Amino acid sequence: MSNKNKKTNDKNKKDVLMWVEKYRPGTLETLASHEHIINTLTKLIEENNFPHLLFYGSPGTGKTTTILAAANKLYGKNKMGHVLELNASDDRGIGIVQNQIKDFASTKTLFSKQFKLLILDEADSMTKPAQDALRRIIEKYTSNVRFCLIGNNIEKISKAIQSRCTKFRFSPLKPRFVRQRIEYIIKEEKLNVTENGIDSVVRLGSGDMRRTINILQSVSLMSEKMDQDAVYNCTGNPHPKHIKEILKSLLQDDFQVCYRKIKKICQFNGFALQDIITDLLVLVLKVDLKPNGMCYILKQLAEIEFRLSVGSSDDIQLSALVSCFIIGRSF
Ligand SMILES: Nc1ncnc2c1ncn2[C@@H]1O[C@H](COP(=O)(O)OP(=O)(O)OP(=O)(O)O)[C@@H](O)[C@H]1O
Ligand SMILES: [Mg+2]
Repeated sequence: MSNKNKKTNDKNKKDVLMWVEKYRPGTLETLASHEHIINTLTKLIEENNFPHLLFYGSPGTGKTTTILAAANKLYGKNKMGHVLELNASDDRGIGIVQNQIKDFASTKTLFSKQFKLLILDEADSMTKPAQDALRRIIEKYTSNVRFCLIGNNIEKISKAIQSRCTKFRFSPLKPRFVRQRIEYIIKEEKLNVTENGIDSVVRLGSGDMRRTINILQSVSLMSEKMDQDAVYNCTGNPHPKHIKEILKSLLQDDFQVCYRKIKKICQFNGFALQDIITDLLVLVLKVDLKPNGMCYILKQLAEIEFRLSVGSSDDIQLSALVSCFIIGRSF
């Protein structure tokens, strides 16, 4: 490979890796949304009253970012030596607790009176014995260490650990905060994005900031002009105009015509029926149908979605979809 090509390649690689990390807020003040959590944490730090923490909620909502920003506020330049970040999914067993966690928790930092911080990411994937061992360590070394456990699913974290921590739930980010952040990135990266392009990126990101930024970056790599079409083409999600066309047919055509039309749209654009059902629901709710008809269709949509998720055939479920509308609209 020539030097020039190698350079371009390295540059591309760097760019591809960067945006989610490049725009990870480093301070609590710059984090978008979750004002309540940010304010509470700021207060706890300022009052020197930092508890053990448990962050849980959907992916890409800022759990890891928030604790890293809190660590910056707590220790500033002295972060090294005070903070240990472990990912429990690398080693989910009791080994990680008995070795790394215990070693870190039981040793004091020289010349520092401040407690240390142990961040245990993906703690919900730890085994039961590991969680049991952790609960004793949390108690024993509280004077020396604060724990921050992070996970998506709180049900998988033992009740005993939960009761030792202050819990914060990270819900999907509100669209207006996602939009603000995306507009900031667009400005920084000098991108040419239309209003409906931004709307689409925000909608498809569904409150997951990581996903939203990744969509923006992929679209920017694929096309110069970033509009609604470019966004939907890049992500492969059904375009709203297709969903509208499908709904129109479901509400007025007879079985054969409707079945063939939807099948053609799916085949031509490579859509999965599952994606169509998800997007269809939002529009169906706005249709003026008799209450019984609406209830029938919604119930059937839920069943079709479930059957598709367990691997049922798209063809059979498409016929169920068309049938449920034909029955539902006749109420
Ligand atoms: N509140 C926020 N404000 C601004 N950017 C955010 C926010 N939350 C997340 N991000 C962006 O999304 C990226 C992913 O966030 P983060 O790693 O904190 O998510 P997470 O909740 O830990 O997800 P997971 O559960 O998958 O580990 C960050 O690098 C950052 O760019
Ligand atoms: Mg995380």
